[in-house]
Amino acid sequence: MKKAPRNRTITLSKSEISKYKNLIIRSEDLKSFAPVNSLILGDVYHSHKFIPDNSVDLLFLDPPYNLYKKFHNVSFIKRKDEDYSQWFESWLTLLLPKLKETSTVYVCCDWQTSVSIYRVLSKYLIILNRITWEREKGRGAKNNFKNSHEDIWFAVKSRKYYFNSSAVKLKRKVIAPYRINGSPKDWEAGSDGNFRLTHAGNLWTDISIPFWSMPENTIHPTQKPEKLLAKLILASTKENDLVLDPFAGSGTSAVTAKKLNRRFYAIEISEEYLLLAMKRLEMAEIDKNIQGFEDGVFWERNTLSFRKKKN
Ligand SMILES: C[S@@+](CC[C@H](N)C(=O)[O-])C[C@H]1O[C@@H](n2cnc3c(N)ncnc32)[C@H](O)[C@@H]1O
Repeated sequence: MKKAPRNRTITLSKSEISKYKNLIIRSEDLKSFAPVNSLILGDVYHSHKFIPDNSVDLLFLDPPYNLYKKFHNVSFIKRKDEDYSQWFESWLTLLLPKLKETSTVYVCCDWQTSVSIYRVLSKYLIILNRITWEREKGRGAKNNFKNSHEDIWFAVKSRKYYFNSSAVKLKRKVIAPYRINGSPKDWEAGSDGNFRLTHAGNLWTDISIPFWSMPENTIHPTQKPEKLLAKLILASTKENDLVLDPFAGSGTSAVTAKKLNRRFYAIEISEEYLLLAMKRLEMAEIDKNIQGFEDGVFWERNTLSFRKKKN
């Protein structure tokens, strides 16, 4: 089927599929640690063995949520809360030895799954915050409110964790520009408007989910935005640090880590998604742009396009 002209969804041609298939690193073939910056095809229960202990600075967890979801050839079935907690714990405990003392763990979930995750996470890690990400796309319901946010738990292994709040400031339009003695108070006047740099809070309303006209979009049903990963990675890692994502899907964390000069390991069970991740990584060799993050600053949604139109 022909794509609409503005549809930038990443797809794979037959020749790309065979090219990337030849390059796949399969966990069943690994004998020792996987090379750094690898995408590993396999199950987290087996693949984690090929990641060295005490090596990871940031563990990003975006597992299937506790609801029915079909991921290409694997379907996730909704379980009882206790069963989901047990499942989460069964692989989390395999990953914890990979973490450095200074490391951070972020876990994505919806409101229902959040409860099960909190219980397990707080047994092993220090929980510092819960980020609420407003994601406005969701199915409307006749008998309930539409789900329009997700949680991201922010946890650390010890109090020695790394956090760089100045790397993730948000550039906001100033609605009521306050002046003292004629000079702007905590904002900057520019030819394209008045803006203020503010510290990132735990309510994120500036990030949209990838959609068909965005160059990062794929057919993965629950792909996370690069802008979201960029915030987490910049807040909690330095250049060259190591990011581990054991449920990598279309590879957003690996791609964003690469764009920001971090190292990574990513594990994914579905070959189809892994191939897409491989293509995205190759694209990131040339294009290091992260939509919504420019000049080292996270722009409030729609202000960047407004600014570009004016130029
Ligand atoms: C919520 S999605 C992750 C999406 C990803 N963050 C992205 O941006 O594309 C969860 C992924 O985990 C994968 N998965 C499910 N069970 C797995 C397992 N046991 N080991 C490794 N990956 C698994 C699914 O195929 C799915 O792609």
